[in-house]
Amino acid sequence: MENNREQWSSKASFILAAAGSAVGLGNIWKFPYIAGENGGAAFLFIYLICILLIGLPILNIEILLGRATKKNPVGAFKTLTNNPFWKYVGALGVLASFTILSFYSVVGGWSLAYTYEALIGTFNTPAFNTPLTAGDFFNLKNSNPLWVLGYHTLFLSIVVLILLSGVRAGLEKASKFLMPILLFILLILVVQGLILPDANKGVSFLFQPDWSKINGQTILLALGHAFFTLSLGMGAMMTYGSYLSDNDDIVNASYLVAFLDTVIAILAGVAIFTVVFSSGYDPTAGPGLVFHVLPPLLSDLTGGYFFAFLFFLLLSIAAITSGISILEVSVAYLVDEKQYSRKKAVLIMASMVYLVAIPCALSFNLLSDFTFSFQDKAFTFFDIADYLASNILLPFGGFFLAVFAGYVWGIDEVVRNLLIGESNSIYFGNTVFENKKFKSFFNFTVKYICPVLIFLVFLYSIGWI
Ligand code: TRP
Repeated sequence: MENNREQWSSKASFILAAAGSAVGLGNIWKFPYIAGENGGAAFLFIYLICILLIGLPILNIEILLGRATKKNPVGAFKTLTNNPFWKYVGALGVLASFTILSFYSVVGGWSLAYTYEALIGTFNTPAFNTPLTAGDFFNLKNSNPLWVLGYHTLFLSIVVLILLSGVRAGLEKASKFLMPILLFILLILVVQGLILPDANKGVSFLFQPDWSKINGQTILLALGHAFFTLSLGMGAMMTYGSYLSDNDDIVNASYLVAFLDTVIAILAGVAIFTVVFSSGYDPTAGPGLVFHVLPPLLSDLTGGYFFAFLFFLLLSIAAITSGISILEVSVAYLVDEKQYSRKKAVLIMASMVYLVAIPCALSFNLLSDFTFSFQDKAFTFFDIADYLASNILLPFGGFFLAVFAGYVWGIDEVVRNLLIGESNSIYFGNTVFENKKFKSFFNFTVKYICPVLIFLVFLYSIGWI
């Protein structure tokens, strides 16, 4: 099997695909609103520290585990240790894969729906006069089960079509085609935001810290988001890493992916907050920021029809290139471990996700009263899938990854493997790791900082602290 495993055609392809996975709804939909609610630049600062201290080391480790074993998460752990416990950690990743996709696909569906609505000019109708009426429109559309299910089906079908074509012709081609478009659209939106009146208010909101908003919970939120935005904790980066050749270096690829992901989140923040502030709206609108607040504001601008369409196209592209990486984990599992053909694996896993996602899609209509209470809040199926994946499965996965790398596989082995890859010597990889100080820093973060902090995030997420 191993010999005919597909590989990325170049390191650049891997970087684009990995960046495509990292840059998603987390950057464009979630980051701006959580930064908005939690002190703007102060949140950004803490988030950057989390990316550097935890995100980067774990990203290196995930990609490395994939490249070293050329396997999906379950197979990767099976290859490296005989202890059966670890293969269940890998299985947790496969489970997280369809839990995440089941709600991600609904939001991806909304993005496609709004791209269409922008195209047919709905945002210029009275329904989109104010964020309030736009909110009503959103709720009205969502009250129709067929609308939500239909767009979820469309989103998942696009993901399936890409995955059916395989690693090079599917994942790689889609990322190579879509990521430049994404960057281009984002830059147009940033420029148009910056030339709006009062744009500086939006920019300074993102770059001037309000430290009073920062507390223990904000830090944990930033850490959790650092994890989600880099696609860590469920083996997505591991699976992408398994299609890398041993000649490709990981250290630099990780820096680049984390850098691109962060820059794109910040640019999305600039594009959104300049519009929000120039219209005098509240930046702390929460999850509805993108679907309620933005369409009426964007469509009021000169050329607004065009910008609104571009914005939702951007959101859809980001969701698709992330969605494919989420499902690929379970597909790789069936292909490697059960020797299924790719086609069969994709169809089986997508059907399962499709079924699991139905209650999520119906959470906004038929099943909206079907809730579970937890911590004094009512959770719909959609909320549960989001909560379970982001707050439990991902931190769990991340925690065990750090423990595995630090204590089971061992830092020496991690560093030795990281150094395989020819361009490490060209860049600073080698010198960095020959530097004893760096190695001991890496050792310290992986063994102590990562597990402890991730564990705290976990406790916080389940409401124990
Ligand atoms: N990183 C993506 C985002 O920001 C989401 C994502 C894709 C993801 N693959 C993942 C999150 C794997 C966790 C694990 O939207």
